[in-house]
Amino acid sequence: MIPKLVRLSRSAHKDRPVAWDRYWAGIKVTGAGGEVLWDSGRDSEFLGYRNVLVRHLDPKLPVVDVGCGHGSFTRALAGVFPAVIGVDVSAHAVARARTESAADGNIAERVRYEVRDMTAPGAARGLGDQRGANVFIRGVLHVLSPDDQVALVENLRLLAGSGGAVFLAETNFQGNPVDYVSHLGATTRGIPAPLERAIRELPMPGHFGPAERARVLPEDTWELLEDGAVAIETNPMTDVAEQSRIPGYYAVLRPRS
Ligand SMILES: C[S@@+](CC[C@H](N)C(=O)[O-])C[C@H]1O[C@@H](n2cnc3c(N)ncnc32)[C@H](O)[C@@H]1O
Repeated sequence: MIPKLVRLSRSAHKDRPVAWDRYWAGIKVTGAGGEVLWDSGRDSEFLGYRNVLVRHLDPKLPVVDVGCGHGSFTRALAGVFPAVIGVDVSAHAVARARTESAADGNIAERVRYEVRDMTAPGAARGLGDQRGANVFIRGVLHVLSPDDQVALVENLRLLAGSGGAVFLAETNFQGNPVDYVSHLGATTRGIPAPLERAIRELPMPGHFGPAERARVLPEDTWELLEDGAVAIETNPMTDVAEQSRIPGYYAVLRPRS
């Protein structure tokens, strides 16, 4: 399987924002059975976060869904919080998120989307109010280079300001790339289509757990309010339910003043 993985991943565009936008430009079907690897099409993962979010996020502040993709979690957040802003580096992702959200009359008034590279200096500007904003970020830090993680976290610090909190949920799979793709259903006979598309078109993901969090969100500048293990739910690609759940890590933090 290794030669096939190497051959597929070689075709991904080396410029990460370009790779992401090309990926989203090619997506036609979302939800369970669709083309997006990390989209389970179900709300069970979000419902597992709901109480944590309600416990720590001030509902008077907007919630910014950083790296919102096609907006599935942005819409779920809008079912709980009155003002949610989805931001993504990919214009095609944002266009798709806007279209899918407009179709949902219950939340259309509560969400808006913007194209932003959240690793760029100044990217946090204008998203929060005077006290800042809350941040929700799922499945983004583990796809960034270590330098981009640091740059993005600096924007999260500015965004959170004095009143906001940051909720993160990331995959934290321990193992090599073959273990990872095998967990998701790849065999020597074939690779499920959403997984193959991600390998072919996107930067190779890493993992993000307590050690990575301590490196980019260190205790001296960030107060850790809560953390633990979660399962990141993916698009079901085999008949084995556990294969569509990736071991993950969540944390809630706020910047120290
Ligand atoms: C694995 S997807 C997760 C999408 C969404 N959070 C979800 O869980 O459904 C990662 C997302 O991060 C976005 N992204 C990658 N780099 C980014 C950056 N520098 N700034 C903003 N978004 C970025 C990608 O376009 C993609 O939509």
